[in-house]
Amino acid sequence: MGLKERLAELREEGLQEIKDSEDLKKINQVRVKMLGKKGPITNVLRGMRDLSAEERPKVGQFANKVRDELTAAIENKRAELEQAAMDAELEAETIDVTLPGTPVAQGEPHVIQQIIDQVVDLFVSMGYEVAVGDEVEQEVYNFEKLNLPKDHPARDMQDTFYVTPSVLMRTQTSPMQARMLEKHDFSQGPLKMISPGKVYRRDTDDATHSHQFNQIEGMVVGKHITMADLKGTLKVVAQSLFGDKLDVRLRPSYFPFTEPSVEADITCFNCMGKGCAICKHTGWIEVLGAGMVHPNVLRMSGVDPEEFGGFAFGLGPDRFAMLKYGVTDIRNFYQNDVRFLTQFDRKG
Ligand code: DAH
Repeated sequence: MGLKERLAELREEGLQEIKDSEDLKKINQVRVKMLGKKGPITNVLRGMRDLSAEERPKVGQFANKVRDELTAAIENKRAELEQAAMDAELEAETIDVTLPGTPVAQGEPHVIQQIIDQVVDLFVSMGYEVAVGDEVEQEVYNFEKLNLPKDHPARDMQDTFYVTPSVLMRTQTSPMQARMLEKHDFSQGPLKMISPGKVYRRDTDDATHSHQFNQIEGMVVGKHITMADLKGTLKVVAQSLFGDKLDVRLRPSYFPFTEPSVEADITCFNCMGKGCAICKHTGWIEVLGAGMVHPNVLRMSGVDPEEFGGFAFGLGPDRFAMLKYGVTDIRNFYQNDVRFLTQFDRKG
């Protein structure tokens, strides 16, 4: 076979192999094999030495033509394969924006926070200001200014974590009474405040005690404020939280910072007053402490008890949550078992 025929044959072979290449790796192999230094075309060109001077340029020309043709075919095929690879990649990475998304688990406010928010919202709607105090408090605000001098026996009711001899973890939110009374400008009208927050007591945790829990303090001080205002206010709170058919009753009690002091009961929402296990067959459930602000408290904060007076109350959102949802162990609220907590999710 002459060189020219051999070249023609290689051309056909090469074109076929190029055509059959199904990926970039293969086309690269074909290029090395056909056009490389050790390839058959180079080999043919080497054989040109033996041709006559007349034939050499013709064969040479043809060889160049075959090489160019194969080079061009390889480049075309490579471009085609690259495009196909790109198309496949794009196809694979297509995002169908109409598919439903993967839902992201969303947190919900803690059940006690829900109660706090509900109470605070209610009071804000009645024009109360919200005052959030510090959990680390001075002893004078936690006790003295609330009419609890040193060695007062009622201090024992609230076993205290002391930080220093004069600084403590507040045992109640009541210190905000003194702090707000001191700050308030009574020429601008009465003081109406609500103060939610965490409080601390040196209690051993059990089903009904926790060394940290929540309180919401409320206070209204102005002119001509009576116990009837207190009762009416508490009724609004009780009805908005537990149901609008409930009644409130006040029982005499003792708190150092109020005089008279009361404990407020609401109609048992479970039996509506008939008597059941929840209300220990009394028909009533105790929900908070309250009273008329003690003249000493007003005086110590620079407010004249002859001119101004009012009521205060302190309620426990933890207890409210236990009552409302029939939770019998307060520790459940603080152990953060999501199986327990998600029961109270509002969105479900
Ligand atoms: N601070 C009281 C407590 O922790 C609760 C309380 C009772 C607050 C009567 C008041 C109140 O404002 O008037 O036991």
